Amino acid sequence: MAQIIDGKAISAQIKEECKEKVAALKAEGKSIALAVIQVGNDPASSVYVRNKKRACEYIGIESISYELPEETTQEELLALIGQLNEREDCNGILVQLPLPKQIDEDTVIRAIDPKKDVDGFHPQSVGALCIGQPGFLSCTPAGIIQLLKRSGISIEGKECVVIGRSNIVGKPMAILLLRENGTVTVTHSRTKDLKEVCKRADILVVAIGKPKMITREYVKEGAVVIDVGIHRLEGNKLCGDVDFEDVEPVCSAITPVPGGVGPMTIAMLMNNCVESLSLS
Ligand code: GUN
Repeated sequence: MAQIIDGKAISAQIKEECKEKVAALKAEGKSIALAVIQVGNDPASSVYVRNKKRACEYIGIESISYELPEETTQEELLALIGQLNEREDCNGILVQLPLPKQIDEDTVIRAIDPKKDVDGFHPQSVGALCIGQPGFLSCTPAGIIQLLKRSGISIEGKECVVIGRSNIVGKPMAILLLRENGTVTVTHSRTKDLKEVCKRADILVVAIGKPKMITREYVKEGAVVIDVGIHRLEGNKLCGDVDFEDVEPVCSAITPVPGGVGPMTIAMLMNNCVESLSLS
């Protein structure tokens, strides 16, 4: 039987640690505030934003909330970010993605002061990660490192295969695994013999965005499998990029969907908010 990596329990542990740190900071007379900006009313984004604000409240971080209309212009959004960059009572700025089509996401991400970039998406944050300097880490890959470490799974010297090369997950994931002394391969839609490459992995991180694509044919006996995907099937059931029922019997540890990687993203966002105080 594989070890089921409990993202709910580990994220709760991290949030508890954040709460204690915030209480200690408050005792020193410091406070933390996160600006949360949503443009338009994409239903999935509304759920994420609500959960982020709830987590802030639980931990003792003030959330400064902006719900802007769908037709907001890029100039208006950039002006708001400019004001928030200057505000000393605002420690972090989160712009929920995706943005409406009239707004260029890269321009918006670049406009955020890297000292307040709690999502870790700014090119300066990504560059700092690549060369091992201090900066905010992208929340989902940072959460996966915590899942592995807190489940007693060592990364050093392991064959790590990442499926997916997105800026938010695949690329930062590869760099973080490398930083932990893993031997890292990044695969993508043009990779030849994907099954063979995946079968080399001691640690397989799957972020392809295709429901249940990864079956046991891709997994080495005893591997650790981390599933970043989340999809809603007919009948409202959730599943990941990994076919859990098929893969679980052959691996040594696996994240479930839901309750694996998902809860870690918000926990690490909260952790970044707490860290923002030491960078500001
Ligand atoms: N949209 C989907 N995931 C994320 C995230 O982690 N941060 C932001 N800002 N938007 C997202």
